[in-house]
Amino acid sequence: MDRFLTPEALAPFRERFRRVAAGLVASLPRGVAVDAVSQVGVRFAVRAQSAWLGWPADLEDRLVDWVAENHAATRSGDRSWTQRVAESFDDLIRSVLEPRRGAAHEDGADDVTARLMRTEVNGRPLTDAEIVSVLRNWTGGDLGSIAHCIGVLAHHLATHPAVQDHLRSGVPDAEIDAIIDEILRIDDPFVSNRRVTTCPVTIGGAELPQGARVKLNWTSANRDEAVFGDPDAMDPERNADRNLVYGIGRHACPGRLLATLEMRIAMQELLAATSSIALDSQRPAERAVSPVGGWALVPIVLT
Ligand code: HEM
Repeated sequence: MDRFLTPEALAPFRERFRRVAAGLVASLPRGVAVDAVSQVGVRFAVRAQSAWLGWPADLEDRLVDWVAENHAATRSGDRSWTQRVAESFDDLIRSVLEPRRGAAHEDGADDVTARLMRTEVNGRPLTDAEIVSVLRNWTGGDLGSIAHCIGVLAHHLATHPAVQDHLRSGVPDAEIDAIIDEILRIDDPFVSNRRVTTCPVTIGGAELPQGARVKLNWTSANRDEAVFGDPDAMDPERNADRNLVYGIGRHACPGRLLATLEMRIAMQELLAATSSIALDSQRPAERAVSPVGGWALVPIVLT
């Protein structure tokens, strides 16, 4: 599946993402508070991922509602609710695939979803269940991840005018990407993943037997004083190699380039279309509650 997520495969989407971001930023009111999570992050994530996958614009509200419910279900810790929400997402994906079957195979539709439906692995086409599973992995959690990352980025810009000024001064893409990674390291909203040990292991002085359930806390690891010194000190260059926002090893995020491209473009358009991004003085930002990270609400005022 990695072939869909290489720099070459993603390059044609740059302009589409830029149009999505520019249109969204232009539609936001000036001089009054907007929520950087729900009104910027979630809307942008849903529109950009839909543009990438070739999904119809009229799915937007269903996807936005789904992100909110998935978030609430995750927060509740209620396994049966998260299961139901996952199933409702699969139904939504099937409703995208069904009418496209003819187009994908006969009329040669050539967007990412159509190409996925034509993909062969080990000499056979993917099954329906596999296609749904891939699309679930590409969108399910990641709409929320991108949305929450944008909330963190907007909060950082609003509280660090010097960073805002620097980014407005025309910074190369690679430097913006490094700054985005570092802001997300300092306040990583993608909190954790789980593992089961396959053999006895000693880690950080703790002995774990085979079959132990382990929680990897990326947010905490990204702020490890033994590694980063002052975890709030911004040093994109020095900390790049140790940044764990996209995980590490065998399961490291394959969507990193796509996520970074989308977030860079969202930040660039937000900065290009405004002269200032400030926190709303009337309503404080609200932290998300564990197990969800980042911010639940970031009221910002654009001028
Ligand atoms: C800012 C947004 C994102 C963040 C912070 C993020 C973070 C992560 C992290 C930490 C992992 C490692 C999970 C683990 O070790 O168990 C991961 C895995 C994964 N990510 Fe992302 N991700 C983001 C966006 C995306 C996007 C846009 C896509 C796809 C289009 C994507 C697809 C995946 C997939 C399929 C995996 C599982 C890889 C595996 O288990 O081998 N992610 N992501």
